[in-house]
Amino acid sequence: MTALSVTPTPIPGLFVLDLPVHGDNRGWFKENWQREKMVALGLPDFGPVQNNMSYNLDAGVTRGLHAEPWDKLVSLGTGRILGAWVDLRAGSSFGTAFSLEMGPDKAVFVPRGVANGYQALEGNTLYSYLVNDHWSPAARASYTYLNLADETAAITWPIPLAEATISDADAHHPRLADVVPMPPRSTVIVGAGGQLGRALTTLLPDAAALTRARLDLTDPASVDAYPWASVGTIINASAYTAVDDAETGEGRRRAWAVNVQAVARLVEVARRHRATLVHVSSDYVFDGAAPEHPEDEPPSPLGVYGVTKAAADALVATLPQHYVLRTSGVIGEGRNFVRTMAGLAERGIRPAVVVDQVGRPTFATDLAAGIVHLLATGAPAGTYNLTNEGPAASWFEVARRVFELTGHPADAVSPTTTAEFTPCTSTSSVSSSLRRAMVLLLPFRDH
Ligand SMILES: NC(=O)c1ccc[n+]([C@@H]2O[C@H](COP(=O)([O-])OP(=O)(O)OC[C@H]3O[C@@H](n4cnc5c(N)ncnc54)[C@H](OP(=O)(O)O)[C@@H]3O)[C@@H](O)[C@H]2O)c1
Repeated sequence: MTALSVTPTPIPGLFVLDLPVHGDNRGWFKENWQREKMVALGLPDFGPVQNNMSYNLDAGVTRGLHAEPWDKLVSLGTGRILGAWVDLRAGSSFGTAFSLEMGPDKAVFVPRGVANGYQALEGNTLYSYLVNDHWSPAARASYTYLNLADETAAITWPIPLAEATISDADAHHPRLADVVPMPPRSTVIVGAGGQLGRALTTLLPDAAALTRARLDLTDPASVDAYPWASVGTIINASAYTAVDDAETGEGRRRAWAVNVQAVARLVEVARRHRATLVHVSSDYVFDGAAPEHPEDEPPSPLGVYGVTKAAADALVATLPQHYVLRTSGVIGEGRNFVRTMAGLAERGIRPAVVVDQVGRPTFATDLAAGIVHLLATGAPAGTYNLTNEGPAASWFEVARRVFELTGHPADAVSPTTTAEFTPCTSTSSVSSSLRRAMVLLLPFRDH
């Protein structure tokens, strides 16, 4: 009896497993899927949700080659097969073939997009496979197929195909040159209408950019209706960002609904579909008591907005594949502090702006580029601080700079403190209910 082992093949992500089979005078027993041991040996933790079987009456039954939109673990209950796999994923390994004669003492892990076929070499062959998504007609529509007789894959079937039992459909699949490769799972940007959402949409033109009108995260039906099975990466750019309003009765509810409950929904979706979730958080999860806040510091939020952001960070961090990016003072296309100040300057308003709240304004385009970088490099999952560089500045200093750069006198801006600030002045949108002196995120780790 061999020991359990997991061996790679020429097809990236396709693994052969040797399964120990314990036999005696009654027959045999094997652990066909043993998550803990197999994952420890390098098998992906693929989360099967459905078990299918096909029974093959006679030697010569030949099925395939089908590339499906889920991962599979293929094994036999009885009999023997020649298993054959051809990579039909878009990319440099497209067309790579691998075959293996196998009985119940082997299993093969087949990643999404690799075509799978087999020929029964004995009668009464029971073929079984675990898959990590439920079959549906919509899923079937996304299958990709290859002809069993394809000359490029050149699979040596022990029983010639002319003598084999093949379904009519399987006999008519295309040759490799006519196969449309299976695309990788897609990227979705949620909250695509906001400052960060727009910057991400520009940088990721192939991503599905979903504004609130298309996907409202506070509406469970809207979330459930989206076809998540084909999504590999979810970037959450949505948020309730009205920091002052979040302190009101209605704002508190709305902030919790968008920033926590909606994120819990996305976490559930990402977990179910093994997708990477990118989530954006804020310096407001800290109280500013320390001069700088490293990525692993426990949160200490002072206001409702900060509490909701910290709660979502904890939810997202429960996922194996996640990135939480903490940033500050996002400036992009849309409503933001700089635009508000420019508008006040234009209208001749002389605002009082808080001098005791300090941070680093961050361009939405740079934040978006950081997200793309983390994804493209496959950086370790976790929490990252990401702001623009340069000295920290108070909102008062930033406001004065905006007045200057838009051709207005900087001394039109006067300093105030958070304690003195009264939200009924014309500057209500430029302060916040955060009672803190200074929040500085330590810089982004270099990956
Ligand atoms: N802005 C800052 O200074 C700042 C600072 C630190 C961290 N952050 C964080 O950075 C991220 C991006 O911020 P941002 O400045 O780009 O925000 P933003 O401009 O206010 O955009 C937020 C987007 O979320 C959408 N949204 C709200 N509720 C939604 C829902 N129920 N379903 C789907 N979408 C919904 C909004 O849609 P509508 O346009 O339809 O309302 C809006 O397009 C957020 O996580 C924020 O907390 C921002």
